[in-house]
Amino acid sequence: MTKYVIKGGKPLKGTVTVSGAKNAAVAIVPAALMVEGPCRVENIPQISDVTLLLKILEEMGANISTVNRHTMDIDCSDISTDFVPFELMRKIRASYYLLGAMLARFGHAKASLPGGCDFGVRPIDQHIKGFKALGAEVEVKNGIITAEVPSGRLHGAQIYMDVVSVGATINVMLAAAMAEGKTTIENAAREPHIVDTANFLNSMGADIRGAGTNVIKINGVDRLSGSSYSIIPDQIEAGTYIAAAAATGGEVLIENVIPKHLECITAKFEEMGVECIPYPDSILIRRTSPLLRTNVKTMPYPGFPTDMQPQACVTLCFAEGTSVITEAVWDNRYKYIDELKRMGASVHVDGKIAVVEGVPGLTGAPVKACDLRAGAALVIAGLCASGTTEVEDAHYIARGYEDFEGKLRGIGADIVCVETPDDEEVSRSAV
Ligand code: EPU
Repeated sequence: MTKYVIKGGKPLKGTVTVSGAKNAAVAIVPAALMVEGPCRVENIPQISDVTLLLKILEEMGANISTVNRHTMDIDCSDISTDFVPFELMRKIRASYYLLGAMLARFGHAKASLPGGCDFGVRPIDQHIKGFKALGAEVEVKNGIITAEVPSGRLHGAQIYMDVVSVGATINVMLAAAMAEGKTTIENAAREPHIVDTANFLNSMGADIRGAGTNVIKINGVDRLSGSSYSIIPDQIEAGTYIAAAAATGGEVLIENVIPKHLECITAKFEEMGVECIPYPDSILIRRTSPLLRTNVKTMPYPGFPTDMQPQACVTLCFAEGTSVITEAVWDNRYKYIDELKRMGASVHVDGKIAVVEGVPGLTGAPVKACDLRAGAALVIAGLCASGTTEVEDAHYIARGYEDFEGKLRGIGADIVCVETPDDEEVSRSAV
């Protein structure tokens, strides 16, 4: 087990560089399975979710070589669906992309129901609806999803998504990229990682148009072949450093960003009185005056991202007055609030609404991360709090942030990562 030990109270100052986007990488790595021959993927973030997906591909027969820290050559020529590592798949939500990719290439696919962070019910009915519309027969039994195309190849279809879903949009896009004929996805999600996955597939020979709008049109192609592609910078990692700079009252230049992707985040931080100055591929965040209260409602892109909700909530704890947060994407993404209250926050949750009363300050305490973004938010709380905060279960944070503590130390944070014996080890040694 790992925990972060943070001594708070210092405004962050300096320059931090953002890594490749997690939610693009976790789609692009499985999509490499569709390509005959090697593809070079650059700007891959060093995070545990990606490491896990690469391991899954390797266990299925992929040949993966590391070119440098962030560049890999992924060759799935010899991959087979005979062995699918269900146990590894269960550990990560994005393993569901292997279904779309396998269906496209082989006409059959197997995967375990996905794991990932727990925000209440996380159905995949829209993924399944899409696969069925493309001609697959899908069965879910004993935690395993099996999809089979009786004719051997998927066919194009018109698919209307009942909910705006990032995962279902990408998964159907993967499956349809090599289907026979045309597919239209209506009510598609529009996140930057959807555009990035479409661009990756197009660079391999796919014909996908409209990604980034709510109607995506795909002309299926017979095969994809290898080329070289660089993943976009991570919008949410950048957003997390925006929140950290804002909450601590610091001045941080965040490099390797696409400022356009950050507008949905900076719009809210500007309302809080934070200066956000965009440059071509960086953004300067500065706060010199007290934080102002505001209301935040999470929505699919280009709305305020749910993956920034906990970080925004922590920042609003320091704003004078009452702020209201509405979580409109996930049913249960406020589990971290109880931990925040242990540090002195005043937040009342009622269903999808969190009412945040600003407090003069937080005090350090031992707290537990319950998921990736909640963990990052508790670290930000610790950076602002007086005294020492220990954030346990920091492995959640490593799922999506490359070298979080190292990057924070680089902008002046007093944070160390400590390995602790897990409960099992403690009880074993106590016997
Ligand atoms: N939904 C359905 N049916 C489906 C799929 C989704 O009802 O078949 C519902 C969900 O229950 C949810 C909403 O639609 O209420 C949106 O879910 P979506 O499918 O968009 O989420 P996801 O694809 O499972 C991705 C990110 C999440 C991020 C959400 C929303 C990945 C691997 N994960 O999840 O990222 O919160 O989109 O933007 O891309 C994170 O990075 O911390 C994270 C959790």
